[in-house]
Amino acid sequence: MKKLITASLTASLLFTLPVLAKGEQDTRQKIKLPGMMKEHMLGNMRDHMLAIHEIQSALAKNELDKAADIAEQRIGMSSLVEHHAAMMAPYMPKNMQDIGTKMHHAASRFAMVVKEGDALKSLDGLAKITQQCVACHAAYRLN
Ligand code: HEC
Repeated sequence: MKKLITASLTASLLFTLPVLAKGEQDTRQKIKLPGMMKEHMLGNMRDHMLAIHEIQSALAKNELDKAADIAEQRIGMSSLVEHHAAMMAPYMPKNMQDIGTKMHHAASRFAMVVKEGDALKSLDGLAKITQQCVACHAAYRLN
């Protein structure tokens, strides 16, 4: 058993190393935003992270309405106005805008699904939100 664990650890290290090396040369596209908008966007981002955390905490306590509200108000379609999405969009490539739109949709969909009370479906819905965080972060940077 120990040997098996060592072997699989070695194998996963071998797989990880090239990825790390690739990570050093940053292939993300740089997006130029005016200073204020950049600060604003990064502020939104930190709130997205906090919202995901609060959603997970609410789920763990079976506070489904709370999880739904956080997702809809802070990441979902209802958050667009507060996030000045229309003002930011022109600075973003079409693909980046599309990922953002998919994230807002996924959050609003999660807000409906979570109320059904099926834990696995809710987790899947949450993963569909974070999938878009990951997709955008892999492709774009501000700094
Ligand atoms: C449409 C693109 C896009 C989406 C969707 C997106 N982000 Fe980001 N996010 C960015 C970019 C670009 C940066 C800046 C990264 C850089 O310059 O290195 C960023 C930065 C961040 C940061 C760092 C903030 C700081 O102060 O430096 C956090 C935290 C973050 N995002 C969380 C999230 C979470 C959580 C989600 C999903 C709920 C998400 N983001 C969705 C594009 C996106």
